[in-house]
Amino acid sequence: MENNNSRLVALEAICSVVLDKKSLSAFVYPEQESGFSKSLVFGTIRFYHQLNDIVTDLLNHSLKKEDLDIHCLMLLGAYQLLYSKIAPHACIFETVDIVNSLDKSWAKGLVNAILRQIDRDKNKLLNQVHYSHPTWLVKKIKQNHADNFEQILAQNNIQAPMTIRVHPSYCTATYQQTLAQIGIQTKSLAVAPQALILDAPVNVYDLIDFDIGACYVQDASAQLAAHLLAPDNQDHILDACSAPGGKTTHLCELAPKAAIIALDSSLERLERVKQNLQRFNLKTIEIIQGDAQQQDWWNGQLFDKILLDAPCSATGVIRRHPDIKLLRKPKGINALVELQADILANLWQLLKPGGVMLYATCSVLKAENEFQIANFINQHDDASEIKIDLDWGIKTSIGRQQLPTHEFDGFYYAKIFKSL
Ligand SMILES: C[S@@+](CC[C@H](N)C(=O)[O-])C[C@H]1O[C@@H](n2cnc3c(N)ncnc32)[C@H](O)[C@@H]1O
Repeated sequence: MENNNSRLVALEAICSVVLDKKSLSAFVYPEQESGFSKSLVFGTIRFYHQLNDIVTDLLNHSLKKEDLDIHCLMLLGAYQLLYSKIAPHACIFETVDIVNSLDKSWAKGLVNAILRQIDRDKNKLLNQVHYSHPTWLVKKIKQNHADNFEQILAQNNIQAPMTIRVHPSYCTATYQQTLAQIGIQTKSLAVAPQALILDAPVNVYDLIDFDIGACYVQDASAQLAAHLLAPDNQDHILDACSAPGGKTTHLCELAPKAAIIALDSSLERLERVKQNLQRFNLKTIEIIQGDAQQQDWWNGQLFDKILLDAPCSATGVIRRHPDIKLLRKPKGINALVELQADILANLWQLLKPGGVMLYATCSVLKAENEFQIANFINQHDDASEIKIDLDWGIKTSIGRQQLPTHEFDGFYYAKIFKSL
């Protein structure tokens, strides 16, 4: 479907993020879509801030509210000219042609002129440093990571690799060889023994036995959670924010007889937990819809271990979800910090003395990570840090922080012990 319908679909998705402020994961692509639309959408959204500055500079005046789809179309055209391998004349011709489908033929000349100018200025535009992030976020990341902020911003703008977690019954090395035999090349990682990073993404159904749970698509940083919590078959475990079930299924792989509760507040997202449990043929996990800030869903039995994979800014996974750069606002970060503190304080009461809580976020912001846990430990006399001794990330004042790299999403872990 590498024709102009793909560009039209891409434009629809871009408008849904830029104009309607909807999450990209909510956009439904047509079934026959080959991936071309997605690559245009992700690219345009990834470089939105740079492309928007370029297009806005070239326009003499901003377009009327009802014509902002034309503005988005120019962003899509600019992305193709600056970042894709598509021949410039095809980028311009095909993008201008979309105007007809929008019934706005008056805009043909405008789109054509702007895109031609961008094509002429290509080298100059690409040589100008532009982080392609909102200013407030650049400032925040710089404040938090003065020495590494440029590396973080650059990684956020590079497409992440596809990483899988291989089920222990398949043995990572054997599965890697089997994939190689069908032309799927991968790299393994010492720190995450079940992880394989694919050289190039594939359709999941091309992965051997995917439908019966041979593997799960999951970044290597996220794969450390279950190992860090170290589940035992005798444990009663709460996976507090569990959907879509990536870490729940992993916990169950490591301790099939453990009594695990998968809690989440979102009924819709819990459906995905159910689907994943079915694919892995896991029948012992109890799924509960409930609010981790409350206790009304709890039966009163204390937990030996709690995994709190907290709702967070997701600033460590911008490379996978570039729409975060458009949709997150500074106020929203403060609200998340409060929510995390609330959930932490509530769940702490459900943990046995002698029990362990693993706190995780896919954020790079200290307010959600080391500062959050430092505050929590200061306020709870029975809480103390268990040091994480791993060749992964940076040791922070409390816990460990991974900044985004090719192999790893940005992630944070802290392990907390409840005294007897
Ligand atoms: C980072 S995601 C969890 C990812 C999951 N642990 C995995 O590995 O697949 C955070 C989850 O927290 C859930 N959540 C947000 N607020 C919550 C709350 N107050 N109580 C329970 N779950 C909540 C969201 O619905 C979302 O599914």
